[in-house]
Amino acid sequence: MSRTVLVAPTGHGVGLTSTCLGLVRALQQRGVDVAFYKPLAQPGSEAGQPDRSTALVRLTAGLSAPEPIPADEVEARLSQSGLDELMQEVVATSEPVCSAHDVVVAEGLVPAEGLVYSGRVNMALAKALDADVVLVGAPGPGTSPGHLAETMAIAAQSYRSNEQDRVVGAIVNRASSTMPADVGTMAAALRERGLPLAGVVPFSRELTWPRVQDIVRALQARGLRVEPMNEGEPDRRVKEVIVAAQGLPGLLPVLREGVLVIVPGDRHEVILSSCLAAMNGARLAGLLLSVGIEPDPRVWELCRPAARSGLPIFLSPELSYETATVVHDIDPQVPTDDLERAGKVTATVAASLDDGWLATLSGTTHARRLSPPAFRHRLTSAARAAAKRIVLPEGTEPRTLQAAVLCQELGIARPVLLGQRDEVTAQAAGLGLALPGGTEVIDPVEVAERYVGPLVEARRHKGMTEDMARDQLADPITVGTMMLRLDEVDGLVAGARHTTAATLRPALQLLGTAPGAGLVSSVFFMCLPDEVVVYGDCAVNPSPSAAQLADIARQSAATARAFGIEPRVAMISFSTGTSGAGADVDKVAEATRLVRQLEPELVVDGPLQYDAASVASVARTKAPGSVVAGRATVFIFPDLNTGNTTYKAVQRSADVVSIGPVLQGLAKPVNDLSRGALVEDIVYTISVTAIQAAQRAGEAPVAATGAAGDRGPGAPVLAR
Ligand code: ACO
Repeated sequence: MSRTVLVAPTGHGVGLTSTCLGLVRALQQRGVDVAFYKPLAQPGSEAGQPDRSTALVRLTAGLSAPEPIPADEVEARLSQSGLDELMQEVVATSEPVCSAHDVVVAEGLVPAEGLVYSGRVNMALAKALDADVVLVGAPGPGTSPGHLAETMAIAAQSYRSNEQDRVVGAIVNRASSTMPADVGTMAAALRERGLPLAGVVPFSRELTWPRVQDIVRALQARGLRVEPMNEGEPDRRVKEVIVAAQGLPGLLPVLREGVLVIVPGDRHEVILSSCLAAMNGARLAGLLLSVGIEPDPRVWELCRPAARSGLPIFLSPELSYETATVVHDIDPQVPTDDLERAGKVTATVAASLDDGWLATLSGTTHARRLSPPAFRHRLTSAARAAAKRIVLPEGTEPRTLQAAVLCQELGIARPVLLGQRDEVTAQAAGLGLALPGGTEVIDPVEVAERYVGPLVEARRHKGMTEDMARDQLADPITVGTMMLRLDEVDGLVAGARHTTAATLRPALQLLGTAPGAGLVSSVFFMCLPDEVVVYGDCAVNPSPSAAQLADIARQSAATARAFGIEPRVAMISFSTGTSGAGADVDKVAEATRLVRQLEPELVVDGPLQYDAASVASVARTKAPGSVVAGRATVFIFPDLNTGNTTYKAVQRSADVVSIGPVLQGLAKPVNDLSRGALVEDIVYTISVTAIQAAQRAGEAPVAATGAAGDRGPGAPVLAR
């Protein structure tokens, strides 16, 4: 199973990219199949330029990392449609990488100036990618190990929720002499705060040395027309910069290897001395002539031998102070074409990471959680792959109509709208919508007669006559259900106007239960902040018996599995084990026994209280040893009063998106909508229905669909 590790900074200038490069290298050295992925380009990076981190990983590790979502697109999405939609897109681009490698190192955003949202985005990335988190911090001048550990512990709090701690390690980068690279002290300070030390990377000045060409590029990037008088060897490293203001006697001792001399072009004695020093073996980094004055041609003639020996000499139009300021402010990050420096940085970080800690990264991982953006992405992409025809009997209902248009445009399904054609067109026009080409509209009144015979046939044993059938077929839901019964469509979605009973009854009567199902029940996919869990039955069976409850549990586990959620089933009660007693508890205990008997390999436990089922610390006290308690993903409620009340309470009070009710146990896919459904809810319900139709036809389940990862034009991204 693939593991994603999000590398996140605890501040600005901590060397995030270098750390990622080193981590990738260290894992490669251990033989781990590792990939790199930077989901979002760092805002502030030059538009049209390839992402720096991604380019460097390609350069140093030879990995074909995908391009991140461009920075301008990130900001546009954040301001217009919000974080959820952005995360859904991240999941879409990450899936091909995650499914193809054992470990994916993902780089977060750096909190650069003005990037107030970087922390929130990094937290959302960790959740969306269900990632473990490695924090990177760097000591400032005079920072003690204790203070640095404190800062990192504060950052770690952001990645803890509902007792889940995503932070698996902390890397201290650029540990200098002011914060001794004493691994033991640092490890102890972090351990005290519950953070495992993954490595201390010593500060090395060598890793900061730019090349002369980098400095020239920086000057040019600031709009300075820096002209080469002699290109020389532009790869020479600039280890030190001096502004030659002093007289010669003071200057001569500093004309040494790696020094870039900034001097006005008319200071001939300094220029000649520098060239002489170069001729005598001092491998100066270069001469940067300021004030835009070229040296006297006779002096320049004397400089030629030094220039021929490779000394880079450039002319800057700015005054010496301005030139020096730009040079001082040069971006400390490794340029994407500096293989030598990138290689050294990578090797230094890789060598500083703890071997034992690295081993834990390629080992077992936390129990996987399917995040809401990942779930929603899977729904829409799997529905696209299924390409099913879904009938929408409430064809003139505005939200249904909008959802149909979206599904048709995004290729999520081929909707069939039931309604009087003029009415549908007028309603669409009123909503400012044009029905996309290929959208089917069928007038149920026109076609009803065609289903009279088959309906009588289906319900003859219940005394159905032709007149009664005509009466029933006045209801478009019955017409749609008959279309499904006769395999003219692949699924049905209704309920934006009708009650659950009105939507469901025709399906129960005309489609019946699927082979092996004792009853029809339902689940909601509850998109909790960290993961999607399943609640059943919250919509259909008012008062199930123990045997029916067992059936509901098994059906819900199968639905969870089919939609990519690993089922760990909790049979919910007001009692955990024998803490409470009575007929209601006995029913849940009996249902649990039946599930175990009928499906021994299913992970199930009960009776469990909701807190014991969902919260690890409560589980340790109330149900120690339970394989489900504290980590349940499927919650089965004892009756409809409890289930319906709980789902609505969680949905409304915790502002949680719930997708459903998704019906299970029906012979053919029909799904109901809440009358308060939003357009997006309807799109997701249509997606679920299309997927169920594909599953019924024996096509690929959601978890295995290869459709994920498509972010080409029209790739469906819907989210709240
Ligand atoms: N599974 C399989 N078949 C069923 C089920 C079931 N759970 N329930 C009823 N049936 C069958 C019956 O056997 C009958 O079959 P038959 O006609 O071939 O003999 C057929 O369905 C119709 O039965 P009725 O008795 O007419 O239907 P009933 O009155 O039992 O209604 C219904 C079924 C609509 C599901 C009912 O149980 C109900 O109203 N449930 C609650 C719905 C609700 O209000 N939910 C809460 C709101 S939803 C929300 O909040 C999103």
